[in-house]
Amino acid sequence: MEQRFEYERFKAVSPAKIRDMIAMAKEQLTMAYAPYSGFYVAAALLCRDGSVYTGCNVENSSYPAGNCAERTAVFKAVSEGKREFSCIVIMGGNAGKVEAYCPPCGICRQVLREFCRPSEFFVILAKSEEDYRVFSLEELLPESFGPEFLTE
Ligand code: THU
Repeated sequence: MEQRFEYERFKAVSPAKIRDMIAMAKEQLTMAYAPYSGFYVAAALLCRDGSVYTGCNVENSSYPAGNCAERTAVFKAVSEGKREFSCIVIMGGNAGKVEAYCPPCGICRQVLREFCRPSEFFVILAKSEEDYRVFSLEELLPESFGPEFLTE
């Protein structure tokens, strides 16, 4: 995946905070419940107030009932009253071994879109604390549909 992101646009979050969030996601990866796919995913979502919510994928014997890591993190945060987010770290791999960047699925991109401006929210695909790529949500979900279409 080509890095098209310009770092100047991503001023809100320090490299130290990103490293902390990647460490949190790495720990969260051990909680992934993925007995069917064997593909473990974890996310760490940074709220505008500085708090971080982690999430992992939670699969189900009725396969479509499973939930992705990113949505777990978003739903945890929203259910705790948070609705303003800065960025999300995502990492994953087979059996929890992270060997490649793990981009968010289309449904998760749309769920993230609900609570942000796509040009101001950043998706960080991490392999480790030192190796990650940053994209705006706008790059990952161009010309997107959002709540303003229903309220304006
Ligand atoms: N998965 C995520 O958790 N996030 C994504 O964005 C991609 C896919 C999970 C869902 C399922 O449990 C497993 O990875 C294989 O698709």
